Amino acid sequence: MRLRKKPWIKDAINDYKEVLTEACPDLNWRETFKRDAPFYVELGTGKGKFIAELAERNPEINFIGMEAQLDVLYYAAQKVYERQLTNVRLLHFDVNNILEIFSPGAISRVYINFCDPWPKNRHAKRRLTHKVFLDKYRSILTNGGELHFKTDNEKLFEFSLNQFADAGLKMKHISFDLHNSDYKDNIMTEYEAKFSAMGMKIYRTEVKFVE
Ligand SMILES: C[S@@+](CC[C@H](N)C(=O)[O-])C[C@H]1O[C@@H](n2cnc3c(N)ncnc32)[C@H](O)[C@@H]1O
Repeated sequence: MRLRKKPWIKDAINDYKEVLTEACPDLNWRETFKRDAPFYVELGTGKGKFIAELAERNPEINFIGMEAQLDVLYYAAQKVYERQLTNVRLLHFDVNNILEIFSPGAISRVYINFCDPWPKNRHAKRRLTHKVFLDKYRSILTNGGELHFKTDNEKLFEFSLNQFADAGLKMKHISFDLHNSDYKDNIMTEYEAKFSAMGMKIYRTEVKFVE
């Protein structure tokens, strides 16, 4: 997601400080949320439609959204703040460094929605479903923790299914056309709305990490 640079966002995002968390080495997530509850993390949150709706439907879960672009995160922070969701925190953060802010086994679920496909083979390691990332997720997820993945990109989906299989992960609810499937609880992301309006199919699966 590329937005035209908006210099005012750097200051304006401070209006939503309450829903933002700064990454630091002694970050304590239980203290941040002031309660004990499972943690679900969305990687590449974009403008936040998905995490805001999911958090509204699941008040018993602590949700953490991370996004590398501040200009995009601003709109997610605005949504979370305006809906007064106390069970969401957002971070301006790069998924590559995810091991720095979560301790082993801390997270129950990871969501990846419409991540950048990085179509060139030489960039395959940048795909958020590459083995390099799966190893990181395995380390922070609980035993039995899950990864829920959606994309519009058939090639990325095929690549990801193979990465999951090679990593020995158990896949379930694989769909090659989510919007014409039996899956009832779907929450559309911004990208999903855009791509499905163009007539593109949406691919989805859930992956379980067990020892
Ligand atoms: C194609 S957009 C999808 C946004 C949203 N998930 C959706 O479905 O509407 C991918 C998003 O992931 C973010 N992103 C890509 N690589 C990232 C990384 N390494 N760490 C954090 N965010 C990243 C991008 O900035 C962008 O906002």
